[in-house]
Amino acid sequence: MAKATKRPKTTKRHADPEPVRVGIVGCGAISGNYMNHIPNYRILNVVACADLVPQRAKAMADQAGIPKVCSVKQLINDDDVDIVLNLTIPKAHYPVAMDAVRAGKHVYSEKPLAIRRPDGRKLVDAAKRKGLLVGGAPDTFFGAGIQTSRKLLDDGAIGQPIACTAYMMGRGVETWHPNPDFYFQPGGGPMFDMGPYYLTAMTFLLGPIKRITAAAGITIPERRITSKPFYGQKITVNTPDHISGSLVFTSGVIGTMCTSFATWAAETWPITIFGTDGTLKVPDPNGFDGDVFLYTKSKDKWRTVKHTHATGHGRAVGLADMAHAIRSGRPARAGAQQTYAVLDAMQGFLDAARTGRAYTPRCRYERPAPLPTRLRKGWLDD
Ligand SMILES: NC(=O)c1ccc[n+]([C@@H]2O[C@H](COP(=O)([O-])OP(=O)(O)OC[C@H]3O[C@@H](n4cnc5c(N)ncnc54)[C@H](O)[C@@H]3O)[C@@H](O)[C@H]2O)c1
Repeated sequence: MAKATKRPKTTKRHADPEPVRVGIVGCGAISGNYMNHIPNYRILNVVACADLVPQRAKAMADQAGIPKVCSVKQLINDDDVDIVLNLTIPKAHYPVAMDAVRAGKHVYSEKPLAIRRPDGRKLVDAAKRKGLLVGGAPDTFFGAGIQTSRKLLDDGAIGQPIACTAYMMGRGVETWHPNPDFYFQPGGGPMFDMGPYYLTAMTFLLGPIKRITAAAGITIPERRITSKPFYGQKITVNTPDHISGSLVFTSGVIGTMCTSFATWAAETWPITIFGTDGTLKVPDPNGFDGDVFLYTKSKDKWRTVKHTHATGHGRAVGLADMAHAIRSGRPARAGAQQTYAVLDAMQGFLDAARTGRAYTPRCRYERPAPLPTRLRKGWLDD
């Protein structure tokens, strides 16, 4: 009898997607952080950069080996650019992103998506009409800390979640940021600056928000800069620097949230989720790989949970995820729905504080899919 032909081993590996071409607008403090991590994601190829201050773009291109330096207008209209990475200051996020969408580009912006809810809505609607993706930071929820927390919640580790607390209690950025003024203007403040990390993590973990109430104030009306180069200059604060409120999730979870640039040495845990059978301490959502702590009533003690997902992601992972979404047609995790829901909620806190009435978010929101637990290095889809 003839021997059966031995078939060569086949692997199920798909062809690697073609890299997506990125043009960076805004080459300030955070751009270096992106450039440090972009090489970790094989789907990203930075082809150009631009800044209102051309020397900044030139300096970054020289340092990071970016082939093209041009004006913002040229970059946005460049046929070689697929995604505009918008790293400008908050009030420029919307106009830059809208120009890019009009020019047919996908856009990934630093947080917040926009500084006013209607602008965010217009941007999301315009992108949808053109079949483009918009979204952006934060992408810290791709980190092992928040992904592990999500898995624990979804696996029922604390039973049914019933309550959560979120505290971002600091003293402000005028001591270290080179150009801190924008942090104290509308679109800044602790809610618009740090709230995105907390609200993104909370919604990714707990789902949509159905009601927000709040109180807020400008507790320190003037700040003195002690960083360089503007040492000694004064900043007039034009947005609340302390916001405290409560939020109710559609699931019934009752949340407490406080964001502040007015407090010294607060010793609060970033996010804690309380369930019927235990409590979860979620790590700082302004980082990627923090430790996750779990208390269960059956064991009656705290333990550190081993991460279920890959560590080592950094700023740029959300951008890489959007690039994969462009290539495969799946939704981007840090996409329009996620970033608009967070903008809506942040504005909701300020609106509720100003009017004394509860704010009811009306946008559609579904939690983005968790990351797969096993991924090839450099890729986000298995
Ligand atoms: N610095 C941080 O640690 C940090 C951390 C996380 C997120 N962010 C976010 O990143 C964004 C940028 O912050 P940053 O700290 O890099 O600020 P930055 O002031 O250091 O840099 C912003 C850059 O954008 C340029 N710019 C402003 N408006 C522009 C426009 N219309 N067109 C082109 N360029 C423009 C400025 O010239 C500047 O070079 C902000 O949204 C901030 O919230 C910053």
